[in-house]
Amino acid sequence: MTGYLWLKAFHIVFVVTWFAGLFYLPRLFVYHSTATDEISRERFKVMESKLFRVIMNPSMLLALILGVWMLLLSWQAYSDKLWLWLKIFLVVLLIGYHHYCLRIIKAFAQDQVIHSEKFFRIFNELPSLVLVAAVILVVVRPWQ
Ligand code: HEM
Repeated sequence: MTGYLWLKAFHIVFVVTWFAGLFYLPRLFVYHSTATDEISRERFKVMESKLFRVIMNPSMLLALILGVWMLLLSWQAYSDKLWLWLKIFLVVLLIGYHHYCLRIIKAFAQDQVIHSEKFFRIFNELPSLVLVAAVILVVVRPWQ
C-alpha cells in the first residue's frame, strides 16, 4: 500500500506542475498577441517554447504514466466507476488543449497571430474548469 501512496503523491505533484504550465502559457499568448516590438515578441517565443518543452511535456507524461500505473494496480476497484471514466475523458480534453497550445506556439514562432487577444483570454480560463471538475470527480467520487 505504501508504494501506491508514493505513486499517488508524485501523480499529484506532476499534475500540479503540468497545470502551472497550462495556466501560465495561455497568459503568455495573451501578451504575445498584443506585443508590437520585435524584442518582446522574440522573448515570448523563447519563454513559450521553454515552458512547453521543459515543464509541460515532462509533467504531462509523468502525471499520465503514474495515473495509468495506479489505475492498473486498482483496476478491480475502479474499472466500473463512472467518476474515473469521466475524469479520464477530462484528461483527454486536457491533452488536446496541451497539443493545441503547441500549434499556437509554432504559429507565433512564424510571427503568425492565429487568434485574437479576446480568444486567448477565454482560452486561458478553460484549464481551471477542467481542474475543478477532475479534482471533484477523483476526491468526492459522485455516482459511486
Ligand atoms: C490518464 C490520466 C489519469 C489517470 C489514469 C488517473 C488516475 C488516478 C488514480 C487511479 C488515482 C488514485 C485514486 C485512489 O486510489 O485514491 C488518482 C488520484 C488522483 N488524481 Fe489522477 N489520473 C489521471 C490524471 C489526473 C489529472 C489530469 C488530474 C488533475 C486534474 C488528476 C488528479 C488526481 C488527484 C487529485 C488524485 C488524488 C485523489 C485522492 O487522493 O483522493 N489525475 N488518479
